[in-house]
Amino acid sequence: MSPKPIYVAIDTDNMHQAQMLSAQVTRAGAGIKLGLQFFCNHGKAGVESLIKACAQPPSVFLDLKFHDIPNTVAGAIASLEGLKIDFINVHAAGGEAMMVAAKKAAEALSSKPKLLAVTVLTSLDDEALNAVGQQTPAQHQVLTLAKLTKKCGLDGVVCSAHEIETIRAECGDNFALMVPGIRPEGSDIGDQKRVMTPKEAIDKGANHLVIGRPITQSADPQKTIQEILESIAT
Ligand code: C5P
Repeated sequence: MSPKPIYVAIDTDNMHQAQMLSAQVTRAGAGIKLGLQFFCNHGKAGVESLIKACAQPPSVFLDLKFHDIPNTVAGAIASLEGLKIDFINVHAAGGEAMMVAAKKAAEALSSKPKLLAVTVLTSLDDEALNAVGQQTPAQHQVLTLAKLTKKCGLDGVVCSAHEIETIRAECGDNFALMVPGIRPEGSDIGDQKRVMTPKEAIDKGANHLVIGRPITQSADPQKTIQEILESIAT
């Protein structure tokens, strides 16, 4: 399966609901993002059963954000052997040796997923970073970790829409930017604080968009995906 411009966050632990959504999303030409909530409930077998529920093989982003010592992260990634996945991720704060080990483990998987890094969680502001002993402002830290990610040979980062331009300028074109916090024109912001439309994010240089509730809670998810795909194609 080739990577897609849109990944729909399947944020549910209900298998039936996840299967229905995944099938619809795949039909509409988007990929699926599965996170810890789904994976902790259903594991590898659950991911496989979602893949089977789709008429054609879906593009899968397994968003498990590994963060541990190099050997453990490499082992966790190796344990994903057999799954047809296009993207996995780690925390860049796990450091250089961990990211290098993670990349080697990802390359050894038969599905050869791209490996992304999370820089600074958008739930952490400067004050929260200070409280964990980190004096650098979040914006600087994001850039420091994006550059380290690139140096370690990873394929890109997950970043907020407001970080796209600076990371793109620093890390170049051959670096995937996967961007959540996206809201199509006129949709509910929900608990997201700073959002951007799909078109704005793509124009700024995003490669892939993560979109959840505007699609999963739409009365017609397929139509909503088609409208978003049309909006970014123009
Ligand atoms: O429903 P919504 O579009 O807000 O979902 C966005 C998805 O992206 C969720 O799975 C959320 O956990 C994830 N995410 C995010 N912001 C980040 C990183 C990940 O919203 N900074």
